[in-house]
Amino acid sequence: MNEFRFFPQAASSDAPQTDAIYFGLVIVSGAVVLVVATLIVVFAIRYRRGTRVGRGAASSLASREFEIGWTLATLLAFLGIFSWAAAQDFVQLRPPPPGALAIDVVAKQWMWKTQHPGGQSEINSLHIPAHQPVRLLMHSQDVIHSFFVPAFRVKKDIVPGHTEELWFEATTPGTYPLFCSEYCGTDHARMLGDIVVMAPQDYGRWLAGQPQGDDLAKAGEGLFRELGCSGCHGENARVRAPPLAGLFGRPVPLSDGRIVVADEAYIRDSILLPKKDIVAGYEAIMPSFSSRLDEGDLTKLVAYIRSLAAQGAGP
Ligand code: CUA
Repeated sequence: MNEFRFFPQAASSDAPQTDAIYFGLVIVSGAVVLVVATLIVVFAIRYRRGTRVGRGAASSLASREFEIGWTLATLLAFLGIFSWAAAQDFVQLRPPPPGALAIDVVAKQWMWKTQHPGGQSEINSLHIPAHQPVRLLMHSQDVIHSFFVPAFRVKKDIVPGHTEELWFEATTPGTYPLFCSEYCGTDHARMLGDIVVMAPQDYGRWLAGQPQGDDLAKAGEGLFRELGCSGCHGENARVRAPPLAGLFGRPVPLSDGRIVVADEAYIRDSILLPKKDIVAGYEAIMPSFSSRLDEGDLTKLVAYIRSLAAQGAGP
């Protein structure tokens, strides 16, 4: 049983900043409410029927300056809040730090599947080390879900067909609830999980005690052959397709002149929507595999291609 809390625990490196912005906004809005409410009461008493106070029109010049003054003041106040929040939280939270632990997350009606780089997988739970940035690569297998961990102050919608990224650094060992915060069908309210934050050495021990699972990249290599990918992308292929060794993370020139970086999203798109980005110098002959793969298979294939990054020379 989770004990009732008025405010969620703060267990990530970013939580204090998010809370500062939250309380800052509460204080500013509280002050505005207080001023407006006080004025309403004061005016209601002062100008009630029968009192002998002046009710003549104020001078038009003074009221114009007053209008401009308070409009500018509120504008500046809100721009200030906006840039504070944008600079402190949003911009800083966008790029995951290099060396973050990459974990795959698949959301589906109605469960969370998580997988560690070594292939260890979990259902409705995720064990992570404290004091290490963790980068989630999230996919949905059916409808829109949303990954929400109040204790880390992170929430991200997972849209089918997209690779959604989220990163955080947990600071305090403990167990924190994970919610789906986008209505996704009958059992949405039961799409829950536990995020277990462990001291780094405990995490290492936990990981070693897990059933090894299939190494994601190994499983991906099997699929790669099974699905016939190797027939075109393999070393001795007769069909000319772009080589995949050393591809991951590199810039790729496309036939329409654009240059894109071969990241997770690009590799997924190339498997599902091969006509979208044609590599310069190649024919658009690859069929789409969207009807033959589920999210788990895709994750494995992408992990395999990611693992080829270390191989510098193409086949
Ligand atoms: Cu998944 Cu709501």
